[in-house]
Amino acid sequence: CGIVGYIGLPEKTSQHGALDVLLEGLRRLEYRGYDSAGVATVSSGTVSMRKKSGKLANLLAEIEAEPLVPASVGIGHTRWATHGAPNDQNAHPHLADDGKLAVIHNGIIENFAQLKAKLLATGEVFASETDTEVAAKLIGQHFTATGDLTEAMRQAANQLEGAFTLLAVHADQPDRVVASRRNSPLVVGLGEGENFLGSDVSGFIDFTREAVELEQDQVVTITAEKVEIIDFDGTPAEGKRFSVNWDAAAAEKGGYGTFMEKEIHDQPKAVEDTLLGRTDASGRLVLDELRIDPEELKNISKIIVLACGTSAYAGMVAKYAIEHWVRVPVEVELSHEFRYRDPIIDDSTLIVSLSQSGETMDTLMAVRYAKEQGARTLAICNTNGSTIPRESDAVLYTHAGPEIAVASTKAFLAQITASYLLGLYMAQLRGKLFQGEIEDILADLHKIPGKIQEVLDGGEQIRKLAREMAQAPSVLFLGRHVGYPVAMEGALKLKEIAYIHAEGFAAGELKHGPIALIDQGQPVFVVVPSPHGRDSLHAKVVSNIQEVRARGAKTITVAEAGDADVVDYSEQVFYVPETQPLLMPLLTTVPLQIFACALAAEKGYDVDQPRNLAKSVTVE
Ligand code: G6P
Repeated sequence: CGIVGYIGLPEKTSQHGALDVLLEGLRRLEYRGYDSAGVATVSSGTVSMRKKSGKLANLLAEIEAEPLVPASVGIGHTRWATHGAPNDQNAHPHLADDGKLAVIHNGIIENFAQLKAKLLATGEVFASETDTEVAAKLIGQHFTATGDLTEAMRQAANQLEGAFTLLAVHADQPDRVVASRRNSPLVVGLGEGENFLGSDVSGFIDFTREAVELEQDQVVTITAEKVEIIDFDGTPAEGKRFSVNWDAAAAEKGGYGTFMEKEIHDQPKAVEDTLLGRTDASGRLVLDELRIDPEELKNISKIIVLACGTSAYAGMVAKYAIEHWVRVPVEVELSHEFRYRDPIIDDSTLIVSLSQSGETMDTLMAVRYAKEQGARTLAICNTNGSTIPRESDAVLYTHAGPEIAVASTKAFLAQITASYLLGLYMAQLRGKLFQGEIEDILADLHKIPGKIQEVLDGGEQIRKLAREMAQAPSVLFLGRHVGYPVAMEGALKLKEIAYIHAEGFAAGELKHGPIALIDQGQPVFVVVPSPHGRDSLHAKVVSNIQEVRARGAKTITVAEAGDADVVDYSEQVFYVPETQPLLMPLLTTVPLQIFACALAAEKGYDVDQPRNLAKSVTVE
């Protein structure tokens, strides 16, 4: 979501009022979410609010129809829905304290269900399905008790778990905007006689370039002339001051040259957010949002995963993981093939569709067809309220945030993460894994974001190779087990954005044909399985590397840290940190994404909008 807050001295309104600043900020932040938008301002002791589902243009029309009185303090929000459908009620701000308090939020409050139950017991009435309104009511109750917005925010923040940036204004304290953050971004913009808040600097870049970054677990109070920061325990603190030297376009991209680069770097957060709020206090997986009776999931006899493009490769990873953990047969099929071949489906078949957009027509039609045949349907999707989840019996949302670049990156890792959660949940329901085993896997999953960050931090080695290889006419990718879909995804990325002929193969299939393609200097990427994995898989892949190398290939390997066996046969090795063999795609994919992105940039191509492609293909 995109967040903006503003407060200025009354005389500032001759230049711009709060509303001008908020709407300009939202326009710049709209790339962070476009499910709905809203603003709240405070003037003459009242909070006025306008909010509307859909793009910012809808909000602008609403404000034009019903103008707001001039104000010099306010907050604004563009939403990317996580809890609750993208409709008017669920749009931010949310009100509390009899309409005197307005709150906006970015992130996921993990313990919102428990908090909501308690608040309902105290007689609070909720107008939306969001976790945000829970935070608003909490802040409202603390304000009633303390009469101070900063203290109310601090006390509420201490009760919240998960990720949040919260901004609040109160009619009884109109001289301030108060914000807090944990695991979710917030920056303060410093003006003269005015101050700003933004989920990133693009929220205020048209007004100031002097900024302060907040640390984890801090509350900030801005007035027109002061910025005061405290920790969640109330100790005064200081943020990190910096000057913004990006232009406004670069600011939207977090300072990266392209959205794709930014989204590759967003991946630790995409995985982390997708894991958030999915376990209870005892460590058991709870996927309440699934909207499917656990008894039904217990009785499923077959799963068919349907998807297109990158999402289909996430589906292949899902197959390996779910079959291994749940012991239920899983087929993976391209949506557009599935429907035309008379597949065998009945009411014990679970269709799992994977779609970033939730609008891919091929997948939608396949889901509809499966429903007609009596199957149960579950969507794993990144876009709340889109068609495929709406038409499915059940849904598990990925929380990658909006993906702008046409070629999918962070949504892919989030889909894989959600597939693991689904597999583990089914294993838990069906008693196929011990609770301790599930907790171990979840613990390893929670370590993945930090490990992705390590791969990103070492990205220069990969970018350098990409620049050197910009003229390669063809690149091959080999992998085995879960490395096989990763190899295909690596090849797809290169085709999509660098327009290079690329193919991914199962390494074992090499000798059955593709090896004939190997010639002097042919680049071959090999995704090497963990040496700690099953049987002799690692050794087999090391042999495959030798086979292609003996025929002149230039071999580049992606291997687990410490794997010394590949060194002698690789021109270059990209190491990724160690994890469970089934979880490796969350790490091994990343160097291949960086490679494709850097190579396309080197060739001067439009990385974010490659020729002939669309982000969401809504024709069959
Ligand atoms: C298009 C995009 C791909 C994407 C595929 C599936 O072809 O260009 O990047 O993987 O659609 O999209 P979905 O939204 O269903 O995941």
